[in-house]
Amino acid sequence: MKFFIDTANLDQIKEAQDLGILDGVTTNPSLMAKEGITGEENIINHYKAICEIVDGDVSAEVIATDFDGIIKEGEALAKLHNQIVVKVPMIKDGIKAIKYFSDKGIKTNCTLVFSVGQAILAAKAGATYVSPFIGRLDDISTDGLNLIEEIRLVYDNYMFETEILAASVRHTMHVVDCAKIGADVMTGPLSSIEGLLKHPLTDIGLEKFLADHHKNK
Ligand code: E4P
Repeated sequence: MKFFIDTANLDQIKEAQDLGILDGVTTNPSLMAKEGITGEENIINHYKAICEIVDGDVSAEVIATDFDGIIKEGEALAKLHNQIVVKVPMIKDGIKAIKYFSDKGIKTNCTLVFSVGQAILAAKAGATYVSPFIGRLDDISTDGLNLIEEIRLVYDNYMFETEILAASVRHTMHVVDCAKIGADVMTGPLSSIEGLLKHPLTDIGLEKFLADHHKNK
């Protein structure tokens, strides 16, 4: 499973990249705003800065919601760097735009996906990634992981090449469960990745190994 980090924070992206296990980054307008990145020029420079840090795909979301606007914005984003993946919302004009980008060889991430039907459409349009938001489904007492499982089944039935990018991952067990189910990619905060490191028996074991080593000196 590929690991993407879901943030626009450059320090956290660097930290994840330094771990050596990072495969990409996802951003969205809310994450950009959280870092105080506003204005076209700053946004463009920020995407470029992210691409310089990470070896892998960087999702940059369009703001337009009409076909012509999505195409204009998406083409400009794709030109910024060869790692940019154009993130397009799951709406009618978004699906048309994903098909257009796919025909042009521009990578896409279909975002705000909450049902299997939406995921089928994204795959039919040729999306590179489909992003089901598991945390937001859990928030409304709906099983987010179950959606990943169902999309996996359907995509495998038809050998769709679109990669299932489990998004809105909130914690470490989401990461583990996504791996069990067969998500191709997960995107989550740095804490969800670093949580994988933790086990009390590792800490206790290491402490004992080091203590014994020093005792025998
Ligand atoms: C997906 O690419 C989104 O950026 C993200 O995963 C949304 O997560 P949230 O529901 O925690 O905001």
